[in-house]
Amino acid sequence: MAIAYDKLFRLMESQQITSTALMRKANISGNIISCLRHNEYVSPETIETICRVFQCRVDAVLDFKFSPEMNIAPSELFLRTANIQNRRYLGNKFKLLKFLRNVVDKNCTAVETVADIFSGTGAVASAFMDKAIITNDLLYSNYLCNLAWFGREQVHLPLLENLIANYNQITDLPTNYMTDNFADTYFSEADCTKIGFVREDVEEKYQLGVINERERAVLVASLIYAMDRIANTCGHYDAWRHGAIFDRRLVLPLLNVPAENNRQNRCFNEDANELVKRIRVDLIYIDPPYNSRQYSDTYHLLENVARWQKPPVHGVARKMNRAGLKSLYCTSKATDAFEELIQHCDAKYILFSYNNMANKGDARSNARISDEDIFRILNAKGDVEVFSAKYKPFTAGKSDIRGNEERLFLCKVRQRSKI
Ligand SMILES: C[S@@+](CC[C@H](N)C(=O)[O-])C[C@H]1O[C@@H](n2cnc3c(N)ncnc32)[C@H](O)[C@@H]1O
Repeated sequence: MAIAYDKLFRLMESQQITSTALMRKANISGNIISCLRHNEYVSPETIETICRVFQCRVDAVLDFKFSPEMNIAPSELFLRTANIQNRRYLGNKFKLLKFLRNVVDKNCTAVETVADIFSGTGAVASAFMDKAIITNDLLYSNYLCNLAWFGREQVHLPLLENLIANYNQITDLPTNYMTDNFADTYFSEADCTKIGFVREDVEEKYQLGVINERERAVLVASLIYAMDRIANTCGHYDAWRHGAIFDRRLVLPLLNVPAENNRQNRCFNEDANELVKRIRVDLIYIDPPYNSRQYSDTYHLLENVARWQKPPVHGVARKMNRAGLKSLYCTSKATDAFEELIQHCDAKYILFSYNNMANKGDARSNARISDEDIFRILNAKGDVEVFSAKYKPFTAGKSDIRGNEERLFLCKVRQRSKI
Protein backbone atom coordinates (compact mmCIF):
# COMPACT_ATOMS: atom_id res chain seq x y z
CA MET A 1 0.00 0.00 0.00
CA ALA A 2 1.57 3.32 -0.96
CA ILE A 3 -0.75 5.78 0.75
CA ALA A 4 -2.27 5.76 4.24
CA TYR A 5 -4.72 8.11 5.94
CA ASP A 6 -4.13 6.97 9.55
CA LYS A 7 -3.20 10.53 10.48
CA LEU A 8 -6.48 11.86 9.15
CA PHE A 9 -8.54 9.40 11.19
CA ARG A 10 -6.50 10.20 14.32
CA LEU A 11 -7.09 13.89 13.68
CA MET A 12 -10.83 13.30 13.31
CA GLU A 13 -10.88 11.34 16.55
CA SER A 14 -8.97 13.99 18.47
CA GLN A 15 -11.34 16.69 17.20
CA GLN A 16 -14.37 14.42 17.59
CA ILE A 17 -15.33 14.76 13.95
CA THR A 18 -17.27 11.80 12.63
CA SER A 19 -17.19 10.58 9.01
CA THR A 20 -20.67 12.00 8.49
CA ALA A 21 -19.53 15.37 9.83
CA LEU A 22 -16.48 15.30 7.55
CA MET A 23 -18.67 14.47 4.56
CA ARG A 24 -20.79 17.54 5.33
CA LYS A 25 -17.94 19.93 6.14
CA ALA A 26 -15.78 18.95 3.17
CA ASN A 27 -18.71 18.31 0.84
CA ILE A 28 -17.46 14.83 -0.04
CA SER A 29 -19.39 11.62 -0.68
CA GLY A 30 -19.59 8.40 1.29
CA ASN A 31 -17.66 6.82 -1.56
CA ILE A 32 -14.69 9.10 -0.86
CA ILE A 33 -14.85 8.25 2.86
CA SER A 34 -14.75 4.60 1.88
CA CYS A 35 -11.65 5.22 -0.33
CA LEU A 36 -9.96 6.97 2.59
CA ARG A 37 -10.78 4.10 4.93
CA HIS A 38 -9.30 1.62 2.45
CA ASN A 39 -6.19 3.77 1.87
CA GLU A 40 -7.00 4.29 -1.79
CA TYR A 41 -5.98 7.31 -3.80
CA VAL A 42 -8.38 10.23 -3.93
CA SER A 43 -8.03 13.42 -5.96
CA PRO A 44 -5.68 16.23 -4.89
CA GLU A 45 -8.80 18.48 -4.74
CA THR A 46 -10.33 16.21 -2.07
CA ILE A 47 -7.14 16.34 -0.01
CA GLU A 48 -7.08 20.12 -0.35
CA THR A 49 -10.68 20.41 0.91
CA ILE A 50 -9.94 18.16 3.87
CA CYS A 51 -6.86 20.23 4.74
CA ARG A 52 -9.04 23.34 4.63
CA VAL A 53 -11.50 21.77 7.06
CA PHE A 54 -8.72 20.99 9.53
CA GLN A 55 -6.66 24.09 8.65
CA CYS A 56 -3.64 21.80 8.32
CA ARG A 57 -0.88 20.83 5.89
CA VAL A 58 -1.09 17.80 3.60
CA ASP A 59 1.35 15.77 5.67
CA ALA A 60 -0.97 16.07 8.68
CA VAL A 61 -3.56 13.87 6.98
CA LEU A 62 -1.63 11.34 4.92
CA ASP A 63 1.54 9.28 4.70
CA PHE A 64 3.24 7.31 1.99
CA LYS A 65 3.94 3.77 3.07
CA PHE A 66 6.38 2.41 0.66
CA SER A 67 7.00 -1.29 0.23
CA PRO A 68 10.54 -1.98 -1.05
CA GLU A 69 9.46 -4.82 -3.32
CA MET A 70 7.47 -2.36 -5.42
CA ASN A 71 10.77 -0.81 -6.54
CA ILE A 72 8.99 2.39 -7.55
CA ALA A 73 9.77 5.73 -5.93
CA PRO A 74 6.68 7.51 -4.55
CA SER A 75 7.51 10.54 -6.65
CA GLU A 76 7.13 8.35 -9.74
CA LEU A 77 3.70 7.22 -8.63
CA PHE A 78 2.48 10.77 -8.56
CA LEU A 79 4.60 12.82 -10.85
CA ARG A 80 5.41 10.79 -13.90
CA THR A 81 3.74 12.41 -16.85
CA ALA A 82 4.27 11.92 -20.56
CA ASN A 83 4.08 14.11 -23.62
CA ILE A 84 3.20 13.13 -27.15
CA GLN A 85 6.85 12.57 -28.15
CA ASN A 86 7.60 10.11 -25.35
CA ARG A 87 7.03 7.08 -27.58
CA ARG A 88 9.59 5.05 -29.48
CA TYR A 89 7.96 5.07 -32.88
CA LEU A 90 9.61 4.48 -36.23
CA GLY A 91 9.35 7.47 -38.56
CA ASN A 92 7.87 9.82 -35.97
CA LYS A 93 8.35 13.43 -37.00
CA PHE A 94 8.54 15.16 -33.66
CA LYS A 95 12.04 16.52 -34.33
CA LEU A 96 10.87 18.00 -37.62
CA LEU A 97 7.90 19.93 -36.28
CA LYS A 98 9.51 23.37 -36.32
CA PHE A 99 10.69 22.89 -39.89
CA LEU A 100 7.33 21.54 -40.96
CA ARG A 101 5.29 24.28 -39.33
CA ASN A 102 7.60 26.91 -40.83
CA VAL A 103 7.04 25.57 -44.33
CA VAL A 104 3.28 25.79 -43.81
CA ASP A 105 3.30 29.24 -42.21
CA LYS A 106 5.54 30.75 -44.88
CA ASN A 107 3.94 29.16 -47.93
CA CYS A 108 0.26 28.55 -47.21
CA THR A 109 -2.54 30.99 -46.50
CA ALA A 110 -5.86 30.68 -44.68
CA VAL A 111 -5.24 27.21 -43.25
CA GLU A 112 -7.95 26.51 -40.67
CA THR A 113 -8.33 22.75 -41.01
CA VAL A 114 -5.53 20.16 -41.12
CA ALA A 115 -5.76 16.41 -41.72
CA ASP A 116 -2.86 14.18 -40.65
CA ILE A 117 -3.99 11.00 -42.37
CA PHE A 118 -1.03 8.69 -41.53
CA SER A 119 -0.78 10.18 -38.07
CA GLY A 120 1.21 7.49 -36.15
CA THR A 121 1.96 9.09 -32.78
CA GLY A 122 0.06 12.26 -33.73
CA ALA A 123 3.22 14.37 -33.42
CA VAL A 124 2.52 16.34 -36.59
CA ALA A 125 -1.11 17.00 -35.64
CA SER A 126 0.20 18.37 -32.34
CA ALA A 127 1.95 21.16 -34.26
CA PHE A 128 -1.46 22.35 -35.44
CA MET A 129 -3.37 22.60 -32.17
CA ASP A 130 -4.53 26.08 -33.22
CA LYS A 131 -6.49 24.51 -36.12
CA ALA A 132 -9.32 22.01 -36.40
CA ILE A 133 -7.53 18.66 -36.70
CA ILE A 134 -8.34 15.34 -38.33
CA THR A 135 -6.14 12.36 -37.42
CA ASN A 136 -6.18 8.89 -38.90
CA ASP A 137 -4.13 5.71 -38.72
CA LEU A 138 -4.62 2.11 -39.82
CA LEU A 139 -3.54 0.88 -36.38
CA TYR A 140 -6.11 0.99 -33.60
CA SER A 141 -3.33 1.55 -31.03
CA ASN A 142 -2.45 4.81 -32.81
CA TYR A 143 -6.12 5.74 -33.14
CA LEU A 144 -6.53 5.45 -29.36
CA CYS A 145 -3.40 7.55 -28.72
CA ASN A 146 -4.66 10.16 -31.16
CA LEU A 147 -8.11 10.17 -29.58
CA ALA A 148 -6.43 10.67 -26.19
CA TRP A 149 -4.49 13.72 -27.42
CA PHE A 150 -6.96 15.32 -29.83
CA GLY A 151 -10.45 13.87 -29.19
CA ARG A 152 -13.20 16.42 -28.68
CA GLU A 153 -14.87 14.72 -25.72
CA GLN A 154 -14.06 16.33 -22.37
CA VAL A 155 -12.01 14.24 -19.91
CA HIS A 156 -12.01 14.50 -16.14
CA LEU A 157 -8.30 14.71 -15.36
CA PRO A 158 -8.53 14.19 -11.56
CA LEU A 159 -10.43 10.94 -12.20
CA LEU A 160 -7.72 9.75 -14.61
CA GLU A 161 -4.98 10.74 -12.20
CA ASN A 162 -6.70 8.77 -9.49
CA LEU A 163 -7.14 5.65 -11.61
CA ILE A 164 -3.54 5.76 -12.81
CA ALA A 165 -2.20 6.17 -9.28
CA ASN A 166 -4.31 3.16 -8.22
CA TYR A 167 -3.06 1.05 -11.13
CA ASN A 168 0.52 1.91 -10.24
CA GLN A 169 0.25 0.81 -6.65
CA ILE A 170 -1.90 -2.30 -7.01
CA THR A 171 -0.22 -5.70 -6.44
CA ASP A 172 -1.17 -9.41 -6.04
CA LEU A 173 -3.09 -9.61 -9.29
CA PRO A 174 -4.57 -12.72 -10.91
CA THR A 175 -2.83 -14.11 -13.99
CA ASN A 176 -4.52 -13.40 -17.31
CA TYR A 177 -4.18 -13.46 -21.12
CA MET A 178 -1.01 -11.36 -21.02
CA THR A 179 0.66 -13.59 -18.41
CA ASP A 180 -0.27 -16.75 -20.31
CA ASN A 181 1.06 -15.52 -23.64
CA PHE A 182 3.86 -13.04 -22.94
CA ALA A 183 5.36 -13.72 -19.47
CA ASP A 184 9.12 -13.10 -19.47
CA THR A 185 9.36 -12.18 -23.14
CA TYR A 186 8.93 -8.47 -23.80
CA PHE A 187 8.02 -7.87 -20.14
CA SER A 188 8.46 -9.67 -16.84
CA GLU A 189 5.72 -12.02 -15.70
CA ALA A 190 4.57 -9.51 -13.06
CA ASP A 191 4.37 -6.66 -15.56
CA CYS A 192 2.51 -8.82 -18.09
CA THR A 193 -0.02 -9.58 -15.37
CA LYS A 194 -0.30 -5.88 -14.57
CA ILE A 195 -0.75 -4.95 -18.24
CA GLY A 196 -3.54 -7.53 -18.66
CA PHE A 197 -5.22 -6.47 -15.42
CA VAL A 198 -5.16 -2.76 -16.29
CA ARG A 199 -6.43 -3.32 -19.84
CA GLU A 200 -9.29 -5.51 -18.61
CA ASP A 201 -10.21 -3.07 -15.88
CA VAL A 202 -10.24 -0.11 -18.28
CA GLU A 203 -12.59 -2.02 -20.56
CA GLU A 204 -14.89 -2.91 -17.67
CA LYS A 205 -14.99 0.68 -16.46
CA TYR A 206 -15.85 1.82 -19.97
CA GLN A 207 -18.62 -0.80 -20.36
CA LEU A 208 -20.07 0.25 -16.98
CA GLY A 209 -20.06 3.92 -17.99
CA VAL A 210 -17.57 4.91 -15.26
CA ILE A 211 -15.31 6.45 -17.93
CA ASN A 212 -16.16 7.88 -21.33
CA GLU A 213 -14.63 6.91 -24.68
CA ARG A 214 -11.83 9.48 -24.59
CA GLU A 215 -11.01 8.68 -20.96
CA ARG A 216 -10.72 5.04 -22.00
CA ALA A 217 -8.37 6.14 -24.80
CA VAL A 218 -6.22 8.15 -22.37
CA LEU A 219 -5.88 5.15 -20.04
CA VAL A 220 -5.01 2.71 -22.83
CA ALA A 221 -2.58 5.25 -24.29
CA SER A 222 -0.95 5.61 -20.84
CA LEU A 223 -0.52 1.85 -20.80
CA ILE A 224 1.04 1.95 -24.28
CA TYR A 225 3.46 4.70 -23.24
CA ALA A 226 4.36 2.75 -20.08
CA MET A 227 4.97 -0.45 -22.09
CA ASP A 228 7.07 1.39 -24.67
CA ARG A 229 9.34 2.74 -21.95
CA ILE A 230 10.38 -0.61 -20.49
CA ALA A 231 9.87 -3.17 -23.27
CA ASN A 232 12.66 -5.71 -23.60
CA THR A 233 13.20 -4.84 -27.27
CA CYS A 234 15.25 -2.44 -29.33
CA GLY A 235 12.16 -0.34 -29.99
CA HIS A 236 9.94 -2.74 -31.90
CA TYR A 237 8.28 -6.05 -31.25
CA ASP A 238 9.84 -8.22 -33.97
CA ALA A 239 11.93 -9.90 -31.31
CA TRP A 240 12.73 -9.79 -27.61
CA ARG A 241 16.13 -10.17 -25.95
CA HIS A 242 16.61 -13.61 -24.41
CA GLY A 243 17.98 -13.77 -20.88
CA ALA A 244 17.26 -10.11 -20.16
CA ILE A 245 16.98 -8.93 -16.57
CA PHE A 246 13.71 -7.11 -16.06
CA ASP A 247 14.93 -4.40 -13.74
CA ARG A 248 12.44 -1.69 -14.67
CA ARG A 249 8.85 -1.93 -13.53
CA LEU A 250 5.77 -0.83 -15.42
CA VAL A 251 4.65 2.61 -14.28
CA LEU A 252 1.77 4.27 -16.08
CA PRO A 253 2.34 7.96 -16.78
CA LEU A 254 -0.42 10.51 -16.75
CA LEU A 255 -0.51 11.86 -20.29
CA ASN A 256 -0.46 15.65 -20.45
CA VAL A 257 -3.63 15.70 -22.54
CA PRO A 258 -5.83 18.80 -22.58
CA ALA A 259 -9.13 18.30 -20.74
CA GLU A 260 -10.83 19.76 -23.80
CA ASN A 261 -9.88 20.16 -27.45
CA ASN A 262 -11.29 21.93 -30.49
CA ARG A 263 -14.90 20.71 -30.83
CA GLN A 264 -14.36 20.16 -34.55
CA ASN A 265 -11.49 17.69 -34.18
CA ARG A 266 -12.12 14.19 -35.54
CA CYS A 267 -10.11 10.98 -35.17
CA PHE A 268 -10.35 8.02 -37.56
CA ASN A 269 -9.02 4.46 -37.76
CA GLU A 270 -9.13 3.40 -41.39
CA ASP A 271 -7.23 3.15 -44.64
CA ALA A 272 -6.20 6.71 -45.61
CA ASN A 273 -7.17 5.96 -49.22
CA GLU A 274 -10.77 5.43 -48.10
CA LEU A 275 -10.93 8.32 -45.65
CA VAL A 276 -9.59 10.83 -48.13
CA LYS A 277 -12.68 10.35 -50.29
CA ARG A 278 -14.88 11.78 -47.52
CA ILE A 279 -12.94 14.72 -46.13
CA ARG A 280 -12.42 18.31 -47.27
CA VAL A 281 -9.77 20.34 -45.47
CA ASP A 282 -7.35 23.18 -46.16
CA LEU A 283 -4.18 21.11 -45.66
CA ILE A 284 -3.64 17.36 -45.91
CA TYR A 285 -0.41 16.03 -44.45
CA ILE A 286 0.70 12.67 -45.87
CA ASP A 287 3.39 10.61 -44.13
CA PRO A 288 3.06 6.97 -45.25
CA PRO A 289 5.56 4.19 -44.46
CA TYR A 290 8.60 4.47 -46.73
CA ASN A 291 9.70 0.89 -46.97
CA SER A 292 8.67 -2.74 -46.78
CA ARG A 293 8.45 -2.84 -42.99
CA GLN A 294 4.80 -3.18 -41.96
CA TYR A 295 3.91 -1.19 -38.83
CA SER A 296 1.46 -3.92 -37.84
CA ASP A 297 4.41 -6.35 -37.60
CA THR A 298 6.57 -3.93 -35.68
CA TYR A 299 3.90 -2.92 -33.16
CA HIS A 300 1.73 -6.07 -33.03
CA LEU A 301 1.88 -6.29 -29.24
CA LEU A 302 0.69 -2.71 -28.68
CA GLU A 303 -2.04 -3.33 -31.23
CA ASN A 304 -3.03 -6.55 -29.46
CA VAL A 305 -3.34 -4.78 -26.11
CA ALA A 306 -5.21 -1.83 -27.65
CA ARG A 307 -7.75 -4.04 -29.45
CA TRP A 308 -8.04 -6.44 -26.50
CA GLN A 309 -9.71 -9.26 -28.36
CA LYS A 310 -7.22 -11.71 -26.83
CA PRO A 311 -6.39 -13.63 -30.03
CA PRO A 312 -4.03 -16.64 -30.17
CA VAL A 313 -0.42 -15.62 -30.81
CA HIS A 314 2.28 -17.49 -32.71
CA GLY A 315 6.02 -17.95 -33.00
CA VAL A 316 8.88 -16.65 -30.90
CA ALA A 317 7.76 -13.04 -31.42
CA ARG A 318 4.24 -13.98 -30.20
CA LYS A 319 2.43 -12.22 -33.04
CA MET A 320 -1.33 -12.30 -33.53
CA ASN A 321 -2.95 -12.59 -36.95
CA ARG A 322 -2.50 -9.21 -38.63
CA ALA A 323 -4.61 -9.75 -41.75
CA GLY A 324 -6.42 -6.53 -42.56
CA LEU A 325 -3.68 -4.40 -41.02
CA LYS A 326 -1.21 -4.56 -43.89
CA SER A 327 -0.39 -1.34 -45.69
CA LEU A 328 -0.15 -1.14 -49.47
CA TYR A 329 2.48 1.56 -48.95
CA CYS A 330 4.94 -1.14 -47.83
CA THR A 331 4.44 -3.18 -51.00
CA SER A 332 5.10 -2.95 -54.71
CA LYS A 333 1.64 -1.37 -55.02
CA ALA A 334 2.78 1.76 -53.12
CA THR A 335 2.99 3.98 -56.20
CA ASP A 336 -0.52 3.06 -57.39
CA ALA A 337 -1.91 3.62 -53.88
CA PHE A 338 -0.19 7.01 -53.69
CA GLU A 339 -1.52 8.06 -57.08
CA GLU A 340 -5.08 7.12 -56.13
CA LEU A 341 -4.73 8.93 -52.80
CA ILE A 342 -3.53 12.17 -54.36
CA GLN A 343 -6.25 12.09 -57.00
CA HIS A 344 -8.88 11.99 -54.25
CA CYS A 345 -7.38 14.69 -52.03
CA ASP A 346 -9.82 17.55 -51.62
CA ALA A 347 -7.58 20.25 -50.12
CA LYS A 348 -5.92 23.55 -50.96
CA TYR A 349 -2.53 22.19 -49.97
CA ILE A 350 -0.98 18.73 -49.85
CA LEU A 351 2.14 18.31 -47.76
CA PHE A 352 3.93 15.03 -48.36
CA SER A 353 6.86 13.67 -46.31
CA TYR A 354 9.22 11.23 -47.97
CA ASN A 355 12.93 10.76 -47.48
CA ASN A 356 15.56 10.47 -50.19
CA MET A 357 16.52 6.85 -49.55
CA ALA A 358 15.24 5.60 -52.88
CA ASN A 359 18.11 3.11 -53.35
CA LYS A 360 20.56 3.94 -50.61
CA GLY A 361 19.81 1.29 -48.02
CA ASP A 362 19.27 -2.45 -48.17
CA ALA A 363 16.26 -3.88 -49.98
CA ARG A 364 14.06 -3.58 -46.87
CA SER A 365 15.01 0.03 -46.21
CA ASN A 366 14.68 1.35 -49.72
CA ALA A 367 11.84 3.76 -50.37
CA ARG A 368 8.92 2.24 -52.29
CA ILE A 369 7.98 5.26 -54.39
CA SER A 370 10.53 6.76 -56.76
CA ASP A 371 11.17 10.50 -56.99
CA GLU A 372 10.13 10.36 -60.61
CA ASP A 373 6.72 8.99 -59.67
CA ILE A 374 6.31 11.42 -56.78
CA PHE A 375 6.83 14.41 -59.09
CA ARG A 376 4.67 12.96 -61.85
CA ILE A 377 1.75 12.34 -59.47
CA LEU A 378 1.99 15.60 -57.54
CA ASN A 379 2.59 17.75 -60.63
CA ALA A 380 -0.65 16.42 -62.09
CA LYS A 381 -2.47 17.83 -59.05
CA GLY A 382 -0.80 21.22 -58.56
CA ASP A 383 2.39 23.26 -58.31
CA VAL A 384 5.09 21.49 -56.35
CA GLU A 385 7.94 22.84 -54.25
CA VAL A 386 10.40 20.71 -52.23
CA PHE A 387 11.86 21.62 -48.85
CA SER A 388 14.44 19.51 -47.10
CA ALA A 389 15.97 19.03 -43.67
CA LYS A 390 18.87 16.80 -42.73
CA TYR A 391 17.49 13.99 -40.67
CA LYS A 392 18.55 10.82 -38.88
CA PRO A 393 18.20 7.79 -41.15
CA PHE A 394 15.30 5.44 -40.74
CA THR A 395 16.64 1.97 -41.45
CA ALA A 396 15.14 -1.45 -41.15
CA GLY A 397 18.55 -3.13 -41.29
CA LYS A 398 22.14 -2.22 -40.58
CA SER A 399 23.05 -0.61 -43.88
CA ASP A 400 25.34 2.38 -43.74
CA ILE A 401 23.30 5.22 -45.14
CA ARG A 402 24.72 8.67 -45.64
CA GLY A 403 23.28 11.91 -46.89
CA ASN A 404 19.79 11.02 -45.72
CA GLU A 405 17.34 13.88 -45.97
CA GLU A 406 13.74 14.18 -44.93
CA ARG A 407 11.90 15.98 -47.68
CA LEU A 408 8.65 17.85 -47.67
CA PHE A 409 6.82 18.15 -50.95
CA LEU A 410 4.33 21.00 -50.87
CA CYS A 411 1.69 20.82 -53.57
CA LYS A 412 -0.52 23.88 -54.07
CA VAL A 413 -3.55 22.25 -55.58
CA ARG A 414 -4.64 23.79 -58.88
CA GLN A 415 -8.28 22.90 -58.97
CA ARG A 416 -9.94 21.88 -55.77
CA SER A 417 -12.47 19.26 -56.69
CA LYS A 418 -13.15 15.60 -56.14
CA ILE A 419 -12.59 13.21 -59.03
C1 LIG B 1 5.80 7.13 -41.05
S1 LIG B 1 4.53 6.65 -39.96
C2 LIG B 1 3.81 8.19 -39.52
C3 LIG B 1 4.56 8.84 -38.41
C4 LIG B 1 3.85 10.08 -37.88
N1 LIG B 1 3.88 11.17 -38.81
C5 LIG B 1 4.48 10.51 -36.56
O1 LIG B 1 5.04 11.60 -36.49
O2 LIG B 1 4.38 9.74 -35.61
C6 LIG B 1 3.33 5.96 -41.03
C7 LIG B 1 2.01 5.59 -40.36
O3 LIG B 1 1.07 5.26 -41.35
C8 LIG B 1 0.23 4.22 -40.88
N2 LIG B 1 -0.34 3.60 -42.10
C9 LIG B 1 0.24 2.76 -42.97
N3 LIG B 1 -0.57 2.53 -44.01
C10 LIG B 1 -1.70 3.24 -43.80
C11 LIG B 1 -2.90 3.42 -44.53
N4 LIG B 1 -3.11 2.82 -45.70
N5 LIG B 1 -3.85 4.24 -44.00
C12 LIG B 1 -3.65 4.85 -42.81
N6 LIG B 1 -2.53 4.72 -42.09
C13 LIG B 1 -1.56 3.93 -42.58
C14 LIG B 1 1.14 3.35 -40.05
O4 LIG B 1 0.42 2.59 -39.10
C15 LIG B 1 2.07 4.39 -39.42
O5 LIG B 1 1.62 4.76 -38.16
